[in-house]
Amino acid sequence: MLKISPSAPLKGTVVLTGDKSLSHRAALFAALVTGESRIENFLDAGVTRSMLNALEKIGVSWSLDEDVLTVHGKGLAGLTSPASPINCGNSATTMRLLAGVCAASGLSVVLDGSDGLRSRPMNRIVLPLKKMGATINAVNGQAPLVFSGRSTSTLSSASFNLEVASAQVKTCLLLAGLAADGPVRIIEPGPSRDHSERMLAAMGARLEKNVLQEFGHPAKFETILHPGNELNPIRMKLPGDFSSAAFLITAALITPGSELTIRNVGLNPTRTGLLDAFMAMGAHIDVDDKGEQNGEPYGDIHVQYSQLRGISVRGPLVVRMIDEFPTFAVAAALAEGETVVHDAGELRLKESDRIHSICKQLKAIGINIKEHDDGFHLSGNASPVGGIVEPQGDHRIAMALACAGLVSSSPIQINNPKIIHESFPEFIPTLIGLGATIG
Ligand code: S3P
Repeated sequence: MLKISPSAPLKGTVVLTGDKSLSHRAALFAALVTGESRIENFLDAGVTRSMLNALEKIGVSWSLDEDVLTVHGKGLAGLTSPASPINCGNSATTMRLLAGVCAASGLSVVLDGSDGLRSRPMNRIVLPLKKMGATINAVNGQAPLVFSGRSTSTLSSASFNLEVASAQVKTCLLLAGLAADGPVRIIEPGPSRDHSERMLAAMGARLEKNVLQEFGHPAKFETILHPGNELNPIRMKLPGDFSSAAFLITAALITPGSELTIRNVGLNPTRTGLLDAFMAMGAHIDVDDKGEQNGEPYGDIHVQYSQLRGISVRGPLVVRMIDEFPTFAVAAALAEGETVVHDAGELRLKESDRIHSICKQLKAIGINIKEHDDGFHLSGNASPVGGIVEPQGDHRIAMALACAGLVSSSPIQINNPKIIHESFPEFIPTLIGLGATIG
């Protein structure tokens, strides 16, 4: 049980460990080239350990010295089929990205995971991979995913029109596309995070990105991989994780008197929708762009306590802040006036049903929130009262509730807080370092 008490102003400067999505990709992509890759500021957390353990199982050695990950890549052809199933833990990113690699290299392997991961939808990758020629089975479209090698020398070139924007699905198909006999084309209804495209391009892959705009229709987002280019090892320092920064930004925005600087955080525009939402709500946030590392923009974010106004969030902005709704909901609850979120049905398929978890747990601490099929409605002007909350096995719900505890009239006690270690092990020490009272 973690107890968060009403807080004094949060003040200070922090530097965060590397982005989760980039850490996953850098480790996995490094395994696909022959030679040594060196990745600085690698995130050592529950979900990235799942990826590293998986790499070991397919014959790739790595070492983690402080925050520097060295991967001895084997190339797609050098990966080996493990004798026992790979446990992807709670990490859907590990399972979905690795599935693309298993298909590309023709491994015989079973990808499995926790009960939570077994309940998440996998047909979104299983069906397209089958279409490309992979031999893969998943009962009811859920893990375990069973790959039985490949009889053909390549996978087929293919074109996919995704119903839901998803960087995990897109990346899985791009990775499978590395072994295809022609281009792989993916069209998405929203701008999902494009870290894979940026990293693969920096490694030497040939990729195209286009926005398809037909008069009278919403824009679509096209990604094409032209296979055949040899890929080079990675040398990169990863920027801090914007989705982890999101909790600290929220904490500073809602705690009166706070002033916070977060240095060297990733500012990829496909990830920073929350900044746009907060700015539209009247937040005092300044961003200093500092440049790019292997195609990934990064910089410093300065935040001050702000009286926010409610807004409406829907459409492409939802995709650009898909992981940030738990923390956004806490900030919006305290804003002046109503906030409405729509087009966010995908939140029901994350580590928990996040629409339901957000609504249930915020109600438990006295916040007026209504659940919709594809979002929620907050009345605003809330005064959270504290109490005991349950993060539903979801790291982002736990951290969002911790933020609410900073401004509740009495402490918030969070059950099973260890789940935070899945993505942001330094979260509680960082908050304490900024002045929060946490026991
Ligand atoms: C991720 C993509 C998103 C996000 C997840 C990480 C990634 O999932 O929610 O936390 O690293 O590609 P979807 O691809 O399902 O939207």
